[in-house]
Amino acid sequence: MSKRILITGGAGFIGSNLSLALIKHGYEITVLDNLSPQIHGTHQDSPLYLSIKDQVNFILGDVCDKAVWESTLAGQDIVVHLAAETGTGQSQYQLEKYVAVNSMGTANLLDHLVNKKHQVKRLVIASSRAIYGEGKYHCLEHGDVYPLARSQKQMDLGQFEPTCPICQGALQLKPTDENAKIHPASIYGITKQNQEQMILNIGESLGISAIAFRYQNVYGPGQSLKNPYTGILSIFSTQMLNGNDLNIFEDGLESRDFVYIDDVVKATVLGVTAKPEISGIYNVGAGINTSVITVAKSLQKLYGTEVAIKVSGNYRLGDIRHNYADLSKIKKELGFEPTVSFEEGLTKFAEWVKTQPLQEDLYKKSITELKEKGLYK
Ligand SMILES: NC(=O)c1ccc[n+]([C@@H]2O[C@H](COP(=O)([O-])OP(=O)(O)OC[C@H]3O[C@@H](n4cnc5c(N)ncnc54)[C@H](O)[C@@H]3O)[C@@H](O)[C@H]2O)c1
Ligand SMILES: [Zn+2]
Repeated sequence: MSKRILITGGAGFIGSNLSLALIKHGYEITVLDNLSPQIHGTHQDSPLYLSIKDQVNFILGDVCDKAVWESTLAGQDIVVHLAAETGTGQSQYQLEKYVAVNSMGTANLLDHLVNKKHQVKRLVIASSRAIYGEGKYHCLEHGDVYPLARSQKQMDLGQFEPTCPICQGALQLKPTDENAKIHPASIYGITKQNQEQMILNIGESLGISAIAFRYQNVYGPGQSLKNPYTGILSIFSTQMLNGNDLNIFEDGLESRDFVYIDDVVKATVLGVTAKPEISGIYNVGAGINTSVITVAKSLQKLYGTEVAIKVSGNYRLGDIRHNYADLSKIKKELGFEPTVSFEEGLTKFAEWVKTQPLQEDLYKKSITELKEKGLYK
């Protein structure tokens, strides 16, 4: 495939690492990013941005600005669209912003491709495991099922595990594959579903390869330590290093599939460089779920802190209980194999955090916002 790639959101966590990896593969990279203050602070000097600044053609611009696409897309062969608002909880009370940036930003890109001259041959989009909502489970009586979002009534009673939607019985968790039911539990997830479906739809009609990567929880050195709205490892780290106690939601046994940044970059490079006829949806994860309480205790050990870890029974509306990826499809079709274990990745992450300036702990502010909107119980 050709050699010029536009990466939107390329100054972000995944985008900056991806840019540097693709440069090593010989690609010429253009980044379109608005250096959102929630991620980069107000001085436009975040380490992520500085890591790519002199190595890419950087365009400071907003995906919501239709005019910016005209000049940005000129001469590009591939577009990797990563720019997005990314906080699940925040999306529940900033709907207009999330829909504008995520859904409309993607529509602006596609509008240009449909209506204007261009030479783009491949589109890659960052989708998310958030579009699955609760993932796949097994009921002994009813086989594979996809539980609905948990009700407030259940959660108030401390019944955090999803139950069978048919018999309300107990369930066994399974890895979620790409054919699983799509029923996002948050506005963020809904916009990710929009983005993915729009890219696949227009890609098909234009005869352009379109690939959607459903990333699980990505972590690693470089992830924003400033953003209190997403990134549980960063949020815990910033709280711990400020000497603040941790408040663990639910009973602490909720779990996620934590996938190390290098593995995410590897999977995405495999998509970018795949044969032209490759299109479709791929899960990207480690394929293993780890509980939140395990994450908190592991970080506490790595930082050697004494802060208390309190399991509070509080919960956030829009959060799911568990999800982890079935990687069969991406292994078979793109040859992807995750290589970094959670222990190894977390150690690298914590070592990096220790070298970073201590950030102000804004987490309480983010929780206050949720409380004010009735989204935190
Ligand atoms: N990190 C994860 O765990 C994860 C999981 C699933 C999906 N994703 C998706 O992957 C993508 C990248 O995530 P990330 O973790 O690197 O996030 P990030 O916040 O570090 O990076 C996003 C980048 O987009 C830029 N941006 C935001 N709004 C913009 C706008 N209106 N115009 C131009 N640029 C804008 C930001 O400045 C930032 O540099 C996102 O689409 C996200 O939804 C991430
Ligand atoms: Zn059942």
